[in-house]
Amino acid sequence: MNILEMREIYKAFPGVVALDHVTLELEKGEVMALLGENGAGKSTLMKILSGAYHADEGQIILEGRQISGYTTQEAIDMGISIVYQELNNIPGISVAENLFLNNLPTKGPAKTIDYKKLYADSEALLKRVGLNNVDPKASLGTLSVAEKQLVEIAKAVSKNVKILVMDEPTSALNDAETDNLFELILKMRDEGVSIVYISHRMSEIYRVADSAMVMRDGKYIAKVKVADTTTDDLVAYMVGRKIDDMYPKRSVTPGKEVFAVEHLTTNRLKDISFHIRAGEVVGLFGLMGAGRSEIASCIVGMKYHQTSEMRINGEKYVPVSPANALKHKITYVPAERKTDGLFLALTVRENITISNLDLFTKHGKMDLKKEKKIADEWIKTLHVKTPKSETIIESLSGGNQQKVAVAKSLITDPELIILNEPTRGIDVSAKAEIYMLINELCAQGKAVLMISSELPEIMSMSDRIYVICEGRMTGEVQKADFTQELLVKYAIGETD
Ligand SMILES: Nc1ncnc2c1ncn2[C@@H]1O[C@H](COP(=O)(O)OP(=O)(O)OP(=O)(O)O)[C@@H](O)[C@H]1O
Ligand SMILES: [Mg+2]
Repeated sequence: MNILEMREIYKAFPGVVALDHVTLELEKGEVMALLGENGAGKSTLMKILSGAYHADEGQIILEGRQISGYTTQEAIDMGISIVYQELNNIPGISVAENLFLNNLPTKGPAKTIDYKKLYADSEALLKRVGLNNVDPKASLGTLSVAEKQLVEIAKAVSKNVKILVMDEPTSALNDAETDNLFELILKMRDEGVSIVYISHRMSEIYRVADSAMVMRDGKYIAKVKVADTTTDDLVAYMVGRKIDDMYPKRSVTPGKEVFAVEHLTTNRLKDISFHIRAGEVVGLFGLMGAGRSEIASCIVGMKYHQTSEMRINGEKYVPVSPANALKHKITYVPAERKTDGLFLALTVRENITISNLDLFTKHGKMDLKKEKKIADEWIKTLHVKTPKSETIIESLSGGNQQKVAVAKSLITDPELIILNEPTRGIDVSAKAEIYMLINELCAQGKAVLMISSELPEIMSMSDRIYVICEGRMTGEVQKADFTQELLVKYAIGETD
């Protein structure tokens, strides 16, 4: 029996029809993947289910009963829990308080918070999602993105859940954490929980999902059994055509050294040295918390470090601040776009151009026409799905926001581009666009440092990969020697 039916759901925002009479059916104990390109309407459909948005038209039937006009809290009480694509937690308070925000345990007639119980319950929950080493008393802000993501998942699991929606839950997780999450999903499925799983990683679909529903441009396209359907077919449903070249070939011979760092040391990093040549893509691989992002932060002057020697184009470079890094033609696309990468209250145009206003300024005056033209070109190049360049960026779908974050960096015409999880949340066709763009940058003689947790991506795109484990460099691997086994071996600290 269907535990949930959403019938003919229609939802419009100014300038776009996000959902055009979409229908969804979900059985008890079914794991259903929800697939579609960036902006297809996946998150919007799930926000309607969770009570965060209300549909303009259509019906929702839960266990045979029509429900409507409910709040998110009422949805939770009915057993509908959602882990959002964008993190929604409060960094200033503890992990435990985040977990039990709406129902902190109390004791005694005065109803003071029962911290002992709070911490004990939190610990049990954290264990359930594999966060064995996280202290419930720690301030949430001190956790990594991946850990925060797992805390979000723990929050959803803690409710008496019947339908659990996960909107790109693994985008910040590494392989081991993903394995852990999948185990949890399958266990919950066996307990009768129905799960809607949104992801752009096709391999994951085959590991956890029984079925897949595909959307395109706000419309329902198909629902299929995963076991009977090939990846190519799923992609064709999503994109409306076949994609043959996911990782385009690059034929650039690396030139002279563009960037080098020697003896980079912080509290966590120990004596990291490496270099990148013109036309080269160098990968940085490692497990969560290995220190990859910290290396990037140090290079662009976002984080203080004790010692290092850096060179850009043969000249001494001392990181001071991201703005100063830009002056030295070093740009960084951070992994946490919502807090570090974008100005959410500004328009798409403003976000694209803000790092290089000089480009449009002549004698102290902005050439607004030129600014708009260039912004429009980037929107076109990266296929950013937005009603217009003047749309506030916060209303774009997650993947489309990521594309703008990439454009914002590339517009500065850098020599060294540091990309941290550049395709996180980006759909297959836009991924191919970004890979092509990286290749173009290489052909122009730029140097690219790419941090990625996706092995197929980092192996296909890099010329060399440095592997980091617990703040130390444990290996440098040349393209000819790339194997998953070798990279993972170095990543867990086994060296020969
Ligand atoms: N609050 C909003 N205001 C205006 N437009 C919105 C809002 N939320 C979503 N949209 C638009 O609705 C469409 C569907 O967006 P949605 O976030 O559902 O896509 P998605 O399938 O989740 O994409 P992604 O894979 O990138 O996360 C997009 O065109 C988006 O710009
Ligand atoms: Mg989304």
